[in-house]
Amino acid sequence: MKPLSKKISNMEASSVRILTKYAVEAEAKGKKIYKLNIGQPDLCIPDEYYEYIHAFHEQTVEYMPSQGIPELLKAVASYYQKSGINIDEKNIYITTGGTEAFMFTLFAIIEPGDEIIIFEPYYSNYNTFFAITGAKPVGVTTYVENGFHVTDRALIEQKITEKTKAIVVTNPGNPTGTVLWEEEIRMIADVAKEHDLYIIADEVYREMVFDNAKITSFGFLEDVHDRLVLIDSVSKRFNACGARIGAAITKNDEILSLISKLCQGRLAVSTIEQHAAVGLYSTGLRVIHQIRDEFKKRRDVVYECLRKIPGVFCAKPEGAFYLICKLPVKNAEEFLIWMLKNFDDNGETVMAAPGEGFYATEGLGKDEIRIAYVLEPDKLKRAIEILGKGLEAYNKEHK
Ligand SMILES: Cc1ncc(COP(=O)(O)O)c(C=O)c1O
Repeated sequence: MKPLSKKISNMEASSVRILTKYAVEAEAKGKKIYKLNIGQPDLCIPDEYYEYIHAFHEQTVEYMPSQGIPELLKAVASYYQKSGINIDEKNIYITTGGTEAFMFTLFAIIEPGDEIIIFEPYYSNYNTFFAITGAKPVGVTTYVENGFHVTDRALIEQKITEKTKAIVVTNPGNPTGTVLWEEEIRMIADVAKEHDLYIIADEVYREMVFDNAKITSFGFLEDVHDRLVLIDSVSKRFNACGARIGAAITKNDEILSLISKLCQGRLAVSTIEQHAAVGLYSTGLRVIHQIRDEFKKRRDVVYECLRKIPGVFCAKPEGAFYLICKLPVKNAEEFLIWMLKNFDDNGETVMAAPGEGFYATEGLGKDEIRIAYVLEPDKLKRAIEILGKGLEAYNKEHK
């Protein structure tokens, strides 16, 4: 047989799902696993989602316009205007999740060999699209000790070469839970302007910020709108991951026209899910705030429990529903596998994502894990208790 695609063969497996086979084996043996490895929240979807689905009674489920249905474009534009970000319907392309928006944005911007500045640790799923487009991620390392903030402009500028095309920023951050300050956003925007770089801002967790922290968005900075693409989604904002509705948003007409071609090529996004998404946006801030407040509660629980475990260190997350923590082990991935294969406390164990896969720079994150605190507070308490017991047992066994 002729060889298959090298690009795809060389892709690394998702670091989040890396432990799945061990989890399947553990579950087959009857172990209960608290899954903190994946950003799939357990909250209820708003009623409006189903109300809008039930109200859809067309005889034919047709392809819709490739930009998106007018009602949804209007709802998204109105959400932006209410958020203080000056965006019109013509600047929005509805996509199959934020994931497709990110993919199309890279397709539109990247030539093979182009470099992308990205703050690491970062959302590892981007790697799939870096690999497909031939983009090279260049990590600007951020550290747990200062809450993964990006304060030093020189650290960014020293990574910029003539091949650098764009800066990718995820704010609030996955996997860090960091919410960038206004000054940081401004500084990154200034760097992008000075070096003529595009800004790809993934803001799918935009309102998920705790402790009355300010929502920060590149969308507030009108002077970079010409080089900015916002990646958006209903997945996290309305707890609707399976709806697969997102958006690529930009005021750069050239990028819009390339994204438009890509959207036409894939024809359309699901008709019914787009109607359901109009229902989601009709909820205004009610659901957005409920979700934020619930995750704040969970953040408090998980952070307080982790702090009590000897040798564990993490920054207090400021937003989203993730955190990275350092463990008192040399190799966190081996520890997580051991937790699934060899450990249980009353038949229960815990699964998290190894930290290493969230870095572009080799060798970083080996003693770190990412926790997605997507379970109810009581389950989270229990999960972190098991993690603590597991660490103690593991370190006794691996002295
Ligand atoms: C930072 C970030 N961007 C995008 C996505 C994917 O969004 P969607 O479900 O809209 O494709 C996720 C999912 O976890 C994410 O964490």
